[in-house]
Amino acid sequence: MIRVAIDGPAGVGKSSTSKALAKYFGFAYLDTGAMYRAATWWCLNQGVDLDAEQPDADLITATVGRFFTDDHFDISVDPDDPDVLSDGESIAEEIRSAEVSSHVSVVSSIPSVRRLLIAAQRAFIAGEDGPDSFSNGAGIVAEGRDITTVVAPDAEVRVLLTAREEVRAQRRAAQSAQSEHAEGGVGVDDVAARDRADSKVTNFLSAADGVTTVDNSDLDFGETLDVLVKLVEDAM
Ligand code: C5P
Repeated sequence: MIRVAIDGPAGVGKSSTSKALAKYFGFAYLDTGAMYRAATWWCLNQGVDLDAEQPDADLITATVGRFFTDDHFDISVDPDDPDVLSDGESIAEEIRSAEVSSHVSVVSSIPSVRRLLIAAQRAFIAGEDGPDSFSNGAGIVAEGRDITTVVAPDAEVRVLLTAREEVRAQRRAAQSAQSEHAEGGVGVDDVAARDRADSKVTNFLSAADGVTTVDNSDLDFGETLDVLVKLVEDAM
């Protein structure tokens, strides 16, 4: 069983590369950001005020707790068909909305919310308490902001995927232009603001001890994937 932990900021192609890596090896793929997004979507859906100057951490934690423990939430970790479900309905699109993106850091910065999600993520990675579709026999690629440091610091492969600030800014600009023009687009996600807020809570800007930094500023998608494939092969 190979566990691959990948952290990094937005704009480095973390999700698409992690998914492709999981497909390449036939591993499961866990998008932990999707879990924080789903928790945020649920809070908004339940009418919790996430715009308050002092958000109600106890209420948010209790609301998120109900989502995960009362079996509303499910996630598919099949890299060919990743999905997030609430009461059996896919919410994959909803959790990428500008509304969710602009509130997710409020939810993810609450320590008691993080404890809940980290416990769930550790159980998935260990294959102890997976969602229905979960099968991680050969291995798993888990990506997020604190996988190499907190969720799975003992993973066989730990990578910080990053890129120079100006390259990330360019990629973000291209992404925003795309979502602005896309029909029915989800709106612009202020990724820079999200990274700033997130980096106060998790360290995904510099590599922890034993974590390999992969800077893909000058690499295309295929070249980035090649580097990661090699790292996993070396650990096998
Ligand atoms: O990866 P993605 O951009 O979808 O993540 C959405 C949000 O979830 C991040 O902006 C961050 O607030 C939160 N997150 C986190 N820890 C993780 C993964 C995501 O706090 N491991």
